[in-house]
Amino acid sequence: MDKRKKVIFSGIKPSGDLTLGNYIGAIKNWVKLQDDYECLYCVVDLHAITVRQEPKELRQRTLEVLAIYIASGIDPQKSTLFIQSHVPAHSEGGWLLNCYTYMGELSRMTQYKDKAQRYGDSISAGLFNYPVLMAADILIYNTDLVPVGKDQKQHVELARDIANRFNNLYSPTFTIPEPYIATTGQKIMDLQDPSKKMSKSDENPNGYILIMDPPEVIRKKINRAVTDSVGEVHYSDEQPGVKNLMNILISLSGTTAEEIEKKYAGKGYAEFKKDVADAIIAELEPIQKRVKEILADKDYLESVYKAGAEKAQYMALKTLRKMQKKIGFIPPAK
Ligand code: TRP
Repeated sequence: MDKRKKVIFSGIKPSGDLTLGNYIGAIKNWVKLQDDYECLYCVVDLHAITVRQEPKELRQRTLEVLAIYIASGIDPQKSTLFIQSHVPAHSEGGWLLNCYTYMGELSRMTQYKDKAQRYGDSISAGLFNYPVLMAADILIYNTDLVPVGKDQKQHVELARDIANRFNNLYSPTFTIPEPYIATTGQKIMDLQDPSKKMSKSDENPNGYILIMDPPEVIRKKINRAVTDSVGEVHYSDEQPGVKNLMNILISLSGTTAEEIEKKYAGKGYAEFKKDVADAIIAELEPIQKRVKEILADKDYLESVYKAGAEKAQYMALKTLRKMQKKIGFIPPAK
């Protein structure tokens, strides 16, 4: 392991099928970071169970997310790919950090507040403590940078606060992590309501494109994507639907907004939409094919997550032992 490389940690919950938003906003960027950083990419199944999961689906999705990471170009030789529950230090570290986190802090998390509003009293304590587990994910690897979307920035800031608190109370233990908001790769919005983020938990499947959606479904969803009555392809906040489709095209084909505006000047939306769909299909089809191959090769997949968990466990245990010692726990007898 190269000591000079900064550590990156990120993860996606296997709680729903991954969308084009996950791909463009996260995975596609993760791929680019592999050569310059020590990267750990995790399937965060412990986070997924903060809302009820069907066991069979959870198992399938966990493996599918891992296969999508690999098929998208995350190289298990370069990056550490693993399943969160395989490294018990996440749960254990999470418990310890719970005792250094205030109820007040967790009550102020906007994601929690949104969910609490939606689910009322039937919200699990796990959902309340979710950011503490996320802090453990980050801190036990002495992570420098955490690539996340804007909506997760507050959680990374909480991880920083917890780390500083622990460091000040005892002695320097954790690296203070920073959120890493990628400059390339846009936030992809809902196709039916471009004021909100494209999300796998949306009730309306026309609002999102799944990484595993077949080409004809992708075409249909892009055709139905909400635009406006302006009828001109412009990159403008006044045309959020069109802007979102342009962002998809920019992220996937590397063109600029100006080039796109020029190309479709005076042409309405039909050809533009067709090209957006083509670009998505061109990107996703080979990935889908790889995902299916990888999922069919259980031995390979197992070898990846086994090696990943071993490496992650080795790194995490070092930090966990430090935490336990500083807190005042008796080391287990040898
Ligand atoms: N909470 C993140 C999300 O919903 C997922 C996540 C869990 C994560 N642990 C993490 C992201 C640690 C970055 C680092 O997107």
